[in-house]
Amino acid sequence: MNRQPIGVFDSGIGGLSVLQALQAALPLEHFVYLDDSLHAPYGERDDAHVVDRSRAITAYLRQTHGIKALVIACNTATMAAVALLRAEHPDLPIVGVEPGLKPAAAASHTKRVGVIGTRGTVTSAKFNALRLGLQEQAEFIVQPCDGLADAISRSVETQDDLKVIALCAEYTCAMGRFGLNSGDIDTLVLGCTHYVFAQAHLARLVGPQVRILSTGEPVARRTQFLLEQAGALNRTGPGRVALITTGDPAVLQAAARRWLGFATDDAVRWVV
Ligand code: DGL
Repeated sequence: MNRQPIGVFDSGIGGLSVLQALQAALPLEHFVYLDDSLHAPYGERDDAHVVDRSRAITAYLRQTHGIKALVIACNTATMAAVALLRAEHPDLPIVGVEPGLKPAAAASHTKRVGVIGTRGTVTSAKFNALRLGLQEQAEFIVQPCDGLADAISRSVETQDDLKVIALCAEYTCAMGRFGLNSGDIDTLVLGCTHYVFAQAHLARLVGPQVRILSTGEPVARRTQFLLEQAGALNRTGPGRVALITTGDPAVLQAAARRWLGFATDDAVRWVV
């Protein structure tokens, strides 16, 4: 059991940002990363599609790879499917990612927090309940970013970030003023795992004084805690990573090389 891999999935390459944090926290663990690019973007599809894909991927990772835990490295899928997956797999530790509104509200001095995410995430009932619960603590300026996750994925193929930069500029501009003065947004929450790979562009646009929060590290800590509790940590490394995609293996491979420094030429396979 302890040597079984941890399953990690996303609609595409964004979850690699979570995998990076998981590997840093749990270097002895084996991981199977599943990129569902053929069925992406999740954030602009209906809930039923995201729920169907999340169920099919979880079943595949359990049956074919015998995973001992699942990390949903996608905010959109977490919002739509985490409760259902937990109900259907009560014996499997499942960790989801959601936009870090709470730490952002606590960190913000101006009490104006920007949140960017997919349309699916920011219009979900779960996200809006989270936001409502914190409305006394900060004002949230929420911006759906249609096309941004897709543009980030495409930039791997084209090696050209121009579209990513243009969309980041358009969406941050629409949110109002960023800075440290009263009335400014001083904290920006990345509510989509893809956006971590555009963080450098976002930081240039909003200015160096604005804090940008992502959720890879807290997710890794939570995963570690659940495995520790279950006595399921792997004590004998080194950990390995298998990369699997429903889309183009070359894209996932290139993304893993570009952002994670992987040498993964033979690690990517198709899945039905
Ligand atoms: N990476 C996903 C998330 O965190 C979404 C990307 C998509 O729209 O497919 O929400």
